[in-house]
Amino acid sequence: MKLPLTLLLLTSTLHVCAQDVGALTAETKKTVLPVVPKVVNAMQEAVAEKGVAGAIPVCKDQAPRLIKEVRDSTGWSIRRVSLKARNPERGTPDIWEVRTLADFNIRAAAGEKPEVLERSEIVSENGKPVFRYMKALPVADVCLKCHGPAESLDASLKAKLLESYPHDQATGYAKGQIRGALTVIRPL
Ligand code: HEC
Repeated sequence: MKLPLTLLLLTSTLHVCAQDVGALTAETKKTVLPVVPKVVNAMQEAVAEKGVAGAIPVCKDQAPRLIKEVRDSTGWSIRRVSLKARNPERGTPDIWEVRTLADFNIRAAAGEKPEVLERSEIVSENGKPVFRYMKALPVADVCLKCHGPAESLDASLKAKLLESYPHDQATGYAKGQIRGALTVIRPL
């Protein structure tokens, strides 16, 4: 009896696949992506008003809080990940995310614009189909103040970062590189 059940599951997964990846992607983007410009704007304002060290809470508290609001209202898993995380507790990618981030880096190196890099896929997790979406977060000018080359960072900022993030890997970036990604998992 095992084979027909497997086939049935496979068929239903493929059915969802063919029909809905486009619609799921559109709905996910519409729901989740407004967070991105909100964080970038808040970052620019905070840096201008409070200086870099005073702007740390935007990436540390405000971005995770805005993401949590969408998580709470949708029930989806949403977070920020990076191949070089500052906060490894929150930002360490899983295998699918590592592959996708590596793929984003390859596509960017081949000339694709980092701000349009994204990936959608229906995958099986613990035997159940889930929809996964990832969107690259490129390094803009303002990001360099805290994620640029270590030797270019403000001394008091460096001291504060070291206090909270002794294993910080998130420096050394240049403008236009991919800092990380927003990642979404939706149960189907
Ligand atoms: C004022 C300093 C500061 C600036 C400017 C800044 N960040 Fe961050 N960033 C941080 C801190 C601190 C963390 C760790 C957050 C945490 O504890 O979860 C972080 C974490 C992140 C993460 C989560 C993954 C990780 O490495 O832990 C991403 C993605 C990220 N930043 C992207 C950006 C982008 C994109 C910009 C520019 C729009 C930017 N940051 C600007 C301080 C900054």
